[in-house]
Amino acid sequence: MPVIDVINGPNLNLLGTREPKVYGTDTLDDINNKIGALAKQLDVEVRFFQSNHEGEIIDRLHESGRDADFIIINAGAYTHTSIAIRDALAGIDTPAIEVHLSNPEARETFRRGSYIAAAAVGKITGLGYHGYLLALRFAVDYLKNISEVESS
Ligand code: DQA
Repeated sequence: MPVIDVINGPNLNLLGTREPKVYGTDTLDDINNKIGALAKQLDVEVRFFQSNHEGEIIDRLHESGRDADFIIINAGAYTHTSIAIRDALAGIDTPAIEVHLSNPEARETFRRGSYIAAAAVGKITGLGYHGYLLALRFAVDYLKNISEVESS
């Protein structure tokens, strides 16, 4: 069964009470439960990780590089600052998709630009928790296509 890691960065543990007008009222557990329910339907294993610490996210990515088939990552504000997280993604073979609840491009200018984007297959922004669910559907399809190509 494919293994998909869902990695959330700083301050995403505060979802539910954090700027609800921007991020909605779902907690991270609420969102993870929706992802888990979809994963069950799609017959994949999802593993959840959240950290407020850049180095811990990097260590987790290295682990994902060893034993996950796909990564869904919302690096929070590190998206706009962390060359180290980008390098971690670029340094592993596991493909990743970048997700943001809000649309950073439509917000403050310091949120324009993502270091992560160039190391990811693609990016989904501005769709709230739906972004994670769409990313999961994409991941499953992507992995299916890869295994079809490899077995042909
Ligand atoms: C975010 C957008 C980032 O700019 C911000 O720093 C976050 C959350 C999002 O999901 O919309 O922490 O990644």
